[in-house]
Amino acid sequence: SVSHYSTVAPKQLFPTKTIKSLLADNQPKDTEVLLRGWVRSVRKQKQVCFAMVNDGSTLKGIQAILNEDDAKNLSVAFRLSTGACVELKGLLSDSPGQEQAKELQVDAVRVLGECDNSYPLQKKRHSLEFMRNLGHLRARANTGSAVLRVRHAASEGLHQFFASQEFILTNTPILTSGDCEGGGEVFKVTPGSATPSTQDEFFKKPVYLTVSGQLHAEIMASAFSRVYTFGPVFRAEESVTSRHLAEFWMLEAEMSFIDQIDQLLDVTEASIQHTTRHVLDTCAEDLAFFNQWTDKTLLDRLHKSIEKPFARMTYTEAIDVLQRVQDKEKRFEFPTVWGSSLQSEHERYLASEYCGRPVFVTDYPANLKPFYMRTNNDGKTVGCFDLLIPGVGELVGGSMREERLDVLTQKMELAGMNVEEYGWYLDLRKYGSAPHGGYGIGFERLLLWLTGLENVREVVPVPRWVGHCKY
Ligand code: 4AD
Repeated sequence: SVSHYSTVAPKQLFPTKTIKSLLADNQPKDTEVLLRGWVRSVRKQKQVCFAMVNDGSTLKGIQAILNEDDAKNLSVAFRLSTGACVELKGLLSDSPGQEQAKELQVDAVRVLGECDNSYPLQKKRHSLEFMRNLGHLRARANTGSAVLRVRHAASEGLHQFFASQEFILTNTPILTSGDCEGGGEVFKVTPGSATPSTQDEFFKKPVYLTVSGQLHAEIMASAFSRVYTFGPVFRAEESVTSRHLAEFWMLEAEMSFIDQIDQLLDVTEASIQHTTRHVLDTCAEDLAFFNQWTDKTLLDRLHKSIEKPFARMTYTEAIDVLQRVQDKEKRFEFPTVWGSSLQSEHERYLASEYCGRPVFVTDYPANLKPFYMRTNNDGKTVGCFDLLIPGVGELVGGSMREERLDVLTQKMELAGMNVEEYGWYLDLRKYGSAPHGGYGIGFERLLLWLTGLENVREVVPVPRWVGHCKY
C-alpha cells in the first residue's frame, strides 16, 4: 500500500512531554519528569498539598503532591491557587488512590504565573452559558477542552481519510466576487478607510467573504481529479439557532470522474465513518466524559453509526413518508407537499424517528437548489443530497455538478446570473469538461454529532454569530 506519511520522525524539540504522553508512556517506575501546566484545583492539608494540574492534553490532568519533606516547596505550594501557571519537577510514581494510576511526587515547584483571586473558574461544574461568556477561559475547563481535543481529532481523521483516497489538499480564497450558494447571505468586504461612495473602489467591484469554496474547488478538481479544502466560510445568517454560526468551518471535497450520485454518497459516508472511528479510537476519555451528559447514549450511537451503512431515500420518497405521518398524526407545522423545502421538523423526524440513523435524502426539486447542481433526466430534480443526522439535522450538502456547457449556461441565465462574470466557471465546461461532484461537511455540526453537545457555539473556540463578535 502507498504510505502517505514520511517515516522519518522529527527530532523532539521540547524539554517537557505532555501530561498525556507522560501518563501513557511506559516510563520506568519513579522517573524524574518536568511538566508545565495550569492548576485546576488545590486541596491543602496541614503538611501536604494536592494540586490537579493540566496542560490541556488530557481531561483530568495529573495529581501533584507537595509534602512536608520539602518545606520550601510547601510554602510555595501554599501560595498556589486554581488557575496559576506552574512548572513542576518530580517523580512520576504509582498512585495509591482509586482516581488515578499515576501521580507526581513533587521535588521542585515554580510558579510561572500567579492567578488573581478574581479567577472565575471553580472546581464545580459551570453551565455552558456561563462558560460561553468566558470565551477566553473556557478551554481551561473540562467541556471546553474536551471539545477542542475532539475537534483536533476529527480534523486529523478527515485529513487521514482524504489522504488515504489520494485527494490533494487545496486552499480556496476567502475573498470572492460571487455568492456561490445564491442565498444572499454574504458579508461584504470594504477597506476600513472606505467611505460609502468609495466602498467598491479597492477591488473595483463588490467583494464578499466566501460562503463556500466549492466553485474554486471545481477549478482544482478539473486539474487534479480529487481535491478537498478545509477552511472557514462566512454567512450573514440572521436566524439565531443552535445550528448556525456567522463563521464556521467547512470541509469540501470535489472529485472528477464520478457520474453516479451513489458514488458521491459512498465517499461521504466513508469520510464521516472514518472520522467517527478515529475520534472513538483516539478520544476515549473525552467521549466517555460527553457520554455522561447524553444519558449514556452517545457512545452507543457513534458505534452503531460506523457498523452499518447510512439510510438512503429520494426527496420524493421522503415527502411520501412525511405526508403519511401528517395524514395520521398532523404533527408538522409546515407543508409536506412535493416542491416545498424540508424544514428542520421534517429533517428531525426523518433522521431521528423514521430511520433512527443518519439518512441521505437525494434528488431535490431543481427550484429549491443552486444553479450548479446537475439536472436529472426527469428535468425536474437535481442530482444532489443532504445528509441528515439524528439530533443535529443537516450535516452535509452535496451534488453532482452540471458539466454540460449548454445546460449550465441556460441554468445560470434562468437564475438571473451575470454569465460573463462566470466565464471562468463556464470555461471549465468548455475545456475538457468531466463529470464531477462534491460535498461540504459543516465541521461544527459534525462536532455536535461527535460530542452530543446541542449548540454549535460550544464547539468552536471563539464563536461568531449574529450580535456576537467579542474579541
Ligand atoms: O449545504 P451547504 O450550504 O452546501 C454548500 O455550501 C456546498 N457548496 C458545499 C459543497 O458541495 N461543496 O453547506 C454545507 C454544510 C451544511 O450541510 C451545514 O452542515 C453547514 O455547512 N452549514 C453551517 N454550519 C454552521 N453555521 C451555518 N450558518 C451553516 N450553514 C451551513
